Amino acid sequence: MNDVLIELRDLVKIYDTGAVKVLGLNKINLQIKRGEFVAIMGQSGSGKSTLMNILGCLDKPTLGNYFLDGEDVAAMDPNTLNKVRNEKIGFVFQSFNLISRMSALRNVEIPMIYAHKKSPAARRERAAMLLEKVGLSGRIHHQPNEMSGGQRQRVAIARALTNEPPLILADEPTGNLDTASSVEIMEMFSALHKAGATVVVVTHEENIAAYTDRMLRFSDGKLISDKKNENPTPVRDLSIFEGMYKGESHVS
Ligand SMILES: Nc1ncnc2c1ncn2[C@@H]1O[C@H](COP(=O)(O)OP(=O)(O)OP(=O)(O)O)[C@@H](O)[C@H]1O
Ligand SMILES: [Mg+2]
Repeated sequence: MNDVLIELRDLVKIYDTGAVKVLGLNKINLQIKRGEFVAIMGQSGSGKSTLMNILGCLDKPTLGNYFLDGEDVAAMDPNTLNKVRNEKIGFVFQSFNLISRMSALRNVEIPMIYAHKKSPAARRERAAMLLEKVGLSGRIHHQPNEMSGGQRQRVAIARALTNEPPLILADEPTGNLDTASSVEIMEMFSALHKAGATVVVVTHEENIAAYTDRMLRFSDGKLISDKKNENPTPVRDLSIFEGMYKGESHVS
């Protein structure tokens, strides 16, 4: 297996809004290896979300290439792209993006319904197991509006893990959270990284980036620095997701 999970070559994203063209990303060259824990930093408008949308196969580059697991994403047909998104990538968003009238359990089940691989009973069992791992076993029948922000984000993390994606992408996952909840969420990403997942987190905050082991900084659509972090912030329990990533790459 190739140890490079993500490779960008001279990647350019131009937003063409008719009258004006906006350069979202400007010739990005980047490799992220399997199992890395990476922070994406930079000012508002620097291209962080643009990059995440491309990494998550939600948007395509205008020029250049994105290879995910050795495969050129631009060459994938829509069905393959959906499959890749569903099986290889777990998303966590700033605003949680949970379905408000559904229980936590149901929210976590949804990606498994799309994947068509498990019986309803097996789906519920896995959703309950994941919610237990994120510390919400007592809340599985609660709806998002009955939970705190930190709890909602933990539901979103459980949902992102349903299909054991090798790649977890989080765009400002702590942006709407207080400090204590932000710590909990970053500790969970650290544990996922420890379990073998590749985790990419966008943040504005140095202390959030400090949990990761590599910091990339963007400015005006350009990658301006790429630094290793030799001393990531220590976390209380790294074993939460132990054993989850023994296998890899589920797309057949
Ligand atoms: N859909 C779009 N149409 C046109 N321009 C866009 C679009 N999305 C982003 N842009 C532009 O691309 C540039 C990069 O935006 P992006 O959303 O990636 O920034 P960001 O680093 O995520 O910022 P923030 O920290 O505010 O979330 C900005 O100049 C933005 O205005
Ligand atoms: Mg953004």
